[in-house]
Amino acid sequence: MKIFLDTADIGEIRRASDAGLIDGITTNPSLIAKVAGNRDPKEIYLEICEVVDGPVSLEVVAIERVKMVEEGRKLAEIHQNAVVKVPLTEDGLKACRDLVSSGIPVNVTLCFSISQALLAAKAGATYVSPFVGRIDDISGEGMQLIHQIRQVYDSYNYSTEILAASIRHPLHVAESMTLGADCCTIPPKVLWQLAKHPLTDRGLEAFLKDWNTLGTQI
Ligand code: G3P
Repeated sequence: MKIFLDTADIGEIRRASDAGLIDGITTNPSLIAKVAGNRDPKEIYLEICEVVDGPVSLEVVAIERVKMVEEGRKLAEIHQNAVVKVPLTEDGLKACRDLVSSGIPVNVTLCFSISQALLAAKAGATYVSPFVGRIDDISGEGMQLIHQIRQVYDSYNYSTEILAASIRHPLHVAESMTLGADCCTIPPKVLWQLAKHPLTDRGLEAFLKDWNTLGTQI
C-alpha cells in the first residue's frame, strides 16, 4: 500500500521524506490555509513537489466544470507530479473526465458512498478518496466503504486507485491495508504513531541496560 502524507507542512514533509517513508502527498484548501500565511499557494505547491518524488494532489477551488478544468490545467503546469483534485460533484466528475482525457491525473475527493465511488471510476479518475474518518464522525462505518469499493472495483475491473483519506488513527491505516486500499493518506501525527509500540520501547531499554553491563562500545 502506498503511503501519502496528508499535509502541506513542508517541515513535516521533509521529515517523512528524509526517512524514505512516503510515496506522495495530498493537500486540500484547509491544509493550505493552515500553513500559507501571506504566501502564494502556488509557491507552496511547487516547494512540496520539489521535495517529494511522487504524486502530489493539488485541489481546485472552482465549483463549475469549465473553471475547474481551467484551474486544473494551471495546477498541473506547476509540476509533472501534480495530481489535480476535484470534488465528487456532477461538475467535478465532468471536469475529471476532461482532465484525464488530456493526460492529467485526477484524484476525486470527498467520496462518502459506494455509488459516488462508482461514478468516480466511470469518470476515469486516477484516484478516488473515500473520507473514512468523517463517516465515523457521524456514526457511520468508514472502513466499510473501503471494503465495498475494493469489491466493486475488483468485480468490474476498474483501475481507479482507492486512496483511503480522512485517517484519524493507526487502526484506520491497518484496516486500509487489510481491506486492500491502494493508498492511504496519513496526517504526520498518525504516521509517527505507526512506529510506536510499548514492547519495542521496553525491549530496547532492556537491551541497552544489558549491553551497558559490558562497559564497552561498538
Ligand atoms: O485530504 C483530505 C482528507 O484526508 C481530510 O481529512 O481529517 O480533514 O477529515 P480530515
